[in-house]
Amino acid sequence: MTTTTFTIQDLQKLHDFACSLARRAGRYLREDQIHRQTYVLATREKLNSVDLVTAADEGVEKLIHDSVLAEYPDHAFIGEESYSAGEEKRFLLKDGPTWIVDPIDGTVNMVHMFPMTAISIGFCLNSVPTVGVVFAPFLGGEGTLYSAIHHPQGGAWISEFGPSGPLTPLPIIKPPPPLPENAPKGCLFFGEWGKDRRDSPQSNLTKKSTNFVNMATELGGRGGMGGMVHGLRSLGSSTLDMVYVASGQGDIMFEAGCWEWDVCAGIAILLQTGGIVVDSNPPDGLSDTDPIPMANLGGRRYLAIRACSEDAQGRSPRTQQEALVREVWKRTERLNYERPT
Ligand code: IPD
Repeated sequence: MTTTTFTIQDLQKLHDFACSLARRAGRYLREDQIHRQTYVLATREKLNSVDLVTAADEGVEKLIHDSVLAEYPDHAFIGEESYSAGEEKRFLLKDGPTWIVDPIDGTVNMVHMFPMTAISIGFCLNSVPTVGVVFAPFLGGEGTLYSAIHHPQGGAWISEFGPSGPLTPLPIIKPPPPLPENAPKGCLFFGEWGKDRRDSPQSNLTKKSTNFVNMATELGGRGGMGGMVHGLRSLGSSTLDMVYVASGQGDIMFEAGCWEWDVCAGIAILLQTGGIVVDSNPPDGLSDTDPIPMANLGGRRYLAIRACSEDAQGRSPRTQQEALVREVWKRTERLNYERPT
């Protein structure tokens, strides 16, 4: 395995470049919305009628792709729209410097003018999400940006923009509170319905509905499956689900069926704040005491838990997070999302 080294200064430069690129792309989308180009002119279906691509998705991906390769010509680039249009469907991430980009996460929202839409720019080094930039151009005054450099000398920030420019970036709050004592009771849970809408007792959609009702039902209800979460949120953007958990504005993100570009940037932010992300299906053969491995970035199933502090019983953050993962696994059916070959 080759290891590529970047100094913190290299990463800071790359992070700042990605932030300004995301804001440029955000301006493009605001213009697009003003002129209603996306909705009126150019929306096409990909795999089904909820899998949409607009001229704006393609325009933003081109803008990001061309700018990244002009600045970093030897880096690899994986983008949602080029992947969808191409023949190669394997997970292509190698150890070299690689950008993983979703030009518009929440395309369906964008088509409906619902503001949960984000530009998601991730950067991996040695296959680890290392820089994450997520810009929501329709949230906050003139957009809200979540970003991080995942590195011992890095950081994670929320920046808002007013009409006269950037407001002061806020470091994502530390220390975050312990997880609720009887979690998932008391947690805010993000889960997406996704694009697989097939109807059968064993379909992903049927199982997701069961999972969501289990999480919401009173503790002890549904034969012990009830989780009594405070609330279920389905925003239509896995990227935003992930950054809300990363920033402690929610507790659990459970999503299967999305792709590496939907989560890569959010994972870099989550990891830097102290959150964890694992497979939303329990790995085969894992015992109750085995440490839980991190999710495979290309595995299409993600269960993220926010950062937390030691609790009143002296349980470490990792112990609380892993205990919550197991509580979620107990209440959710295994989902089956293959990678096309
Ligand atoms: C979609 C969103 C949605 C998730 C889908 C993704 P897109 O991304 O993140 O929340 O459920 O699996 O494909 O198509 O809007 O970029």
